[in-house]
Amino acid sequence: MTALPLSTQVAIVGAGPSGLLLGQLLHRAGVDAVIIERQSANYVLARIRAGVLEQVTMDLLDEAGVGSRMHQEGLLHGGFDLLFRQQRHRIDLHGLTGGQQVMVYGQTEVTRDLMQARSQAGLPTVYDAQEVQIHDFDQQRPRVSWRIGGRQHQLQCDFIAGCDGFHGVCRASVPPQSITEYEKVYPFGWLGLLADTRPVHHELIYVNSPRGFALCSQRSSTRSRYYLQVPLSDKVEQWSDQAFWDELRLRLDPQAREQLHTGPSLEKSIAPLRSFVAEPMRWGRLMLAGDAAHIVPPTGAKGLNLAASDVKYLSQALIEYYREGSQAGIDHYSDLCLRRIWRAERFSWWFTSLMHRFPENGEIGQKLQEAELDYLVHSESALRSVAENYVGLPLDFGLKKPGP
Ligand code: APR
Ligand code: PHB
Repeated sequence: MTALPLSTQVAIVGAGPSGLLLGQLLHRAGVDAVIIERQSANYVLARIRAGVLEQVTMDLLDEAGVGSRMHQEGLLHGGFDLLFRQQRHRIDLHGLTGGQQVMVYGQTEVTRDLMQARSQAGLPTVYDAQEVQIHDFDQQRPRVSWRIGGRQHQLQCDFIAGCDGFHGVCRASVPPQSITEYEKVYPFGWLGLLADTRPVHHELIYVNSPRGFALCSQRSSTRSRYYLQVPLSDKVEQWSDQAFWDELRLRLDPQAREQLHTGPSLEKSIAPLRSFVAEPMRWGRLMLAGDAAHIVPPTGAKGLNLAASDVKYLSQALIEYYREGSQAGIDHYSDLCLRRIWRAERFSWWFTSLMHRFPENGEIGQKLQEAELDYLVHSESALRSVAENYVGLPLDFGLKKPGP
């Protein structure tokens, strides 16, 4: 890395997928940025997260010049299975949406590709930054400061992009009276297990079972990712690999149960489920993107895709500002993002509510879910609605004027 500049056009806080993708798109448009990250690169890469990319996200990774490994190693899926009452029903995404598919490619790999592109281009990223703070974002020249070891550092900029995730410093620095937060915390978590075993099925299986939700996902033809709904009070240490596989089997249909390949876990963790949106996403010269501004429960696989569409809008707004001197994109950034975010929040909440066991809803809750699933898989219009939301709405959805 070349010496760190004392000032830049855009200071990006956070080197997750949002910050890295923004940095790459800005670099390709000739806009300077510095990324400041509080963890090490290896720590960032060790986080295991969802892995389903919408077409909009695939296109954006191509636009950023980092799509080649995704196209080689990613798996295109034209459908997924819904399992309830011990029976599987395929949702034909491809057929229902006029040819759209999703790409199964882990978020960790997306992050790795972006990190590599950034370091190959020699672009400045500060890792292991402690006590990161943002200053004066309501004025013309904001600043970001941090400490490494005993040394204090400071960077001046035109804009700060808050890409520092749900627990970051950027959203927390906005005066509380200027921000409205909407939040729902679900009364259960997902216990995830990664294993080098052949996936039980060539596509994903989303499972509604009286024992709770399960998901059969994958990272490649030899690596599987499975999830089980568990009470929030469960600790990962309580779950041996054997206990995980036994419980998963109980939630599957007879055929999947027979075809399930088990093996030692490479990783096991419990994640809480949350719906969260902060409004607005811009204050003065601070713009939030990705998990810093919103969280969806993972059932619809929308987290990374929403982060990518925020970054698309934000990069466009910043590029327009520097090329044309226009503030219009910056002014509209928050409204543009929030329309798409709320639609994805709605879909993720609906799919989560449909597929999980809510103990407080009792037996009737389970029966009502099964009736809704039964309706869904036999109604062309209900299926189309699920498929259209799952593959992702186009970036300009709802913005086009109705035709003549
Ligand atoms: N200073 C600097 N960096 C910070 C700070 C801070 N105070 N706080 C957090 N960070 C870093 C985190 O260490 C992390 O690397 O910001 C990064 C935020 O990355 P993510 O949490 O991955 O968020 P984002 O880049 O928006 O990615 C969204 O991640 O959680 C999933 O579902 C989500 O897939 C979506 C994606
Ligand atoms: C995953 O593979 O981790 C995954 C896939 C689909 C989801 C959530 C997670 O909806």
